[in-house]
Amino acid sequence: MSTTPADSRTPADSRTPADSRTPAESRTPTAPKTPGQLTDEVLASFDRCPDARLAELMRALVGHLHRFVTETRLTPREWERAIEILRATGEITDERRQEFILWSDALGVSMLVDALAHELPAGATESTVLGPFYVPGAPLRAYGESIAGEPGAGVPALVHGRVASIAGEPIAGAELDVWQNGADRLYAVQRPEAPEDHLRGRFRTRSDGSYAFVAVRPVPYQIPHDGPVGRMLKLTGRHPWRPAHIHMIVRAEGFQTLTTHIFDASSPYLDSDAVFAVKPSLVREFVEHAAGEPGTPPGVEGDWVSVRADLVLAPA
Ligand code: BEZ
Ligand code: FE
Repeated sequence: MSTTPADSRTPADSRTPADSRTPAESRTPTAPKTPGQLTDEVLASFDRCPDARLAELMRALVGHLHRFVTETRLTPREWERAIEILRATGEITDERRQEFILWSDALGVSMLVDALAHELPAGATESTVLGPFYVPGAPLRAYGESIAGEPGAGVPALVHGRVASIAGEPIAGAELDVWQNGADRLYAVQRPEAPEDHLRGRFRTRSDGSYAFVAVRPVPYQIPHDGPVGRMLKLTGRHPWRPAHIHMIVRAEGFQTLTTHIFDASSPYLDSDAVFAVKPSLVREFVEHAAGEPGTPPGVEGDWVSVRADLVLAPA
């Protein structure tokens, strides 16, 4: 929906001419307070806030919230339900289940905040959501090592490429922190019985900026949908699926840290990601290989796939 000048008015601006008279003019001591006067009163309550940015954020929040209530003619029953959703969100949230972050993801706010914060120079690899399944402290692994801590985790996938600056210079010693789901659609943190370091690891680039590791082909999966976010998805006719992807955080001194994904070009849901995190530049072909084909990574038996993902970091 496009923003018309009328949309960008504050609630006070959008009052009727009669409402826009000063309180003294429009209200005798016994006249009821108008909705516009109420909004003004709340906005004015932040006038003595010593932190200018906090005052700006609170005024904008109240302004938008009051306009939302006014424009939709929100009923008391609907507001009670909204508060119940917040209560249920708090109840289901703990350090493993971050339902507030899930709201931010499912409403596209995580991607919007990221887009506004990272206006990247041309050529830099784009960022996308972190998601709730990142656990810091993955083991440092050797070039080419597998991140699968259990047999049968999925089709082996050789992931390789180069990390470089915008000028194309290789970045040696950059750290790639990677994690992904297995063929059972789950991340290791979602399975208490899984080895702690299953399907995650940190790798360092070599002197020519190259990196390689053996992952498994990621599969599409559903974001947690047995809570309030899931109810919203169901009631609004949305699905909870994310397209297949591998997560990475790339860190290198003197460069902006990059949180990104490698998406599988053959995956369903690339055009309807539940968290709006697909960027076309992050979609890569996973090339299929027969067992024993030249270039088969050591220890890989059976058919496998490979994907090349070159990564370009923006300067800090
Ligand atoms: C993920 O990719 O791990 C993810 C991102 C947002 C919400 C749920 C999961
Ligand atoms: Fe994910």
